[in-house]
Amino acid sequence: MNLKERIIEEISLSGPMPFERFMEVSLYDPDGFFGGAKLRSEKAGDFLTSPEVSSLFGETLARYVEQAHQRLGDPFQLVEVAAGSGSLIRPLLESYEVPASAVEVSPAARESLAKLVPVTSELPESVRGVILANELLDNLPMALAQRMDGTWRERWVGAEGNELSFVDAPVRPEVEAWLDEYAGPVDDGGWVEVQLAAGEWVREAIDALTEGSILIFDYGDTAENLLSRRRDGTLRTYRSHHLGPHPLDEPGETDITADVNFSALMVPGATLHRQDEFLSRLGLRDRLSELRHAELEAARDGAEMERLKLRTLKTEAETLLHPRGLGDFRVLEIVVGP
Ligand SMILES: C[S@@+](CC[C@H](N)C(=O)[O-])C[C@H]1O[C@@H](n2cnc3c(N)ncnc32)[C@H](O)[C@@H]1O
Repeated sequence: MNLKERIIEEISLSGPMPFERFMEVSLYDPDGFFGGAKLRSEKAGDFLTSPEVSSLFGETLARYVEQAHQRLGDPFQLVEVAAGSGSLIRPLLESYEVPASAVEVSPAARESLAKLVPVTSELPESVRGVILANELLDNLPMALAQRMDGTWRERWVGAEGNELSFVDAPVRPEVEAWLDEYAGPVDDGGWVEVQLAAGEWVREAIDALTEGSILIFDYGDTAENLLSRRRDGTLRTYRSHHLGPHPLDEPGETDITADVNFSALMVPGATLHRQDEFLSRLGLRDRLSELRHAELEAARDGAEMERLKLRTLKTEAETLLHPRGLGDFRVLEIVVGP
């Protein structure tokens, strides 16, 4: 039985399932998108993340870790959560060496990471240092709601024959409380992804951190700025670097994701930044200028191989800083302790 058939069987036995259950199974079941033997987050995979675009992402964040280490002293630890293939932590540790570990739930990613650092499937109980997570929260299971006649209704997953479809369900109290607090004034018909698990993850990370900071990178925005995307909502799938089919069509075969509502994560000590500005403050824009100059010099000197190498790096830095692309991602920085 494939994953879709198993989901349909579960629905036929227990009735329609909340969307977060569907997302959990579709992504993290052993037959799910991240649960199998295939490493998803690499250049040849299904989506291109900042660390997969360039080692400059990890190298730039090494400056952040270095500054935090200088501020806090020892003992100090770097923990990367949802570390994927290791494309962030590898160049980071090559630029600045500190005790480090990774947290991953995907078996394929764990295998890749184990060559670099110790790996666990859960956050350590106690961390003093920096916790990093790139594109974790958009992949945590979420509930789905729609505004109908001035009230909230949930959209659960039901089955008709061999097909899955959204079915109407009353809103659960915890979902309604989240919507009332964080969705904002959504028009009738509007769809909202209810990110309770993202909030829980942030609370867990804060509990684990005795002193230091948490850096969370993801696409998304404040509730207010997300309002214009609410007509159809932001739930979507990715496959082979492109938008994929409807989220219910091929469970396990596509990434399922949505924009992160950062307003729901603004705890005391938190600040929200744009990725381009955050990386520029850590020196990436200066590095880009150096690369541009060095490329021109290599061209003048007729050093063709060197020029091509520099041009590639320059293009990667531009991609990380692109104001309508990765530069438009958000960075949530949460500082804990003095
Ligand atoms: C979009 S990928 C990002 C991978 C990597 N950070 C990158 O930027 O290339 C999301 C990753 O989050 C991992 N993940 C999901 N839930 C997790 C959790 N609770 N703890 C640790 N990793 C998790 C998935 O297995 C997957 O590898």
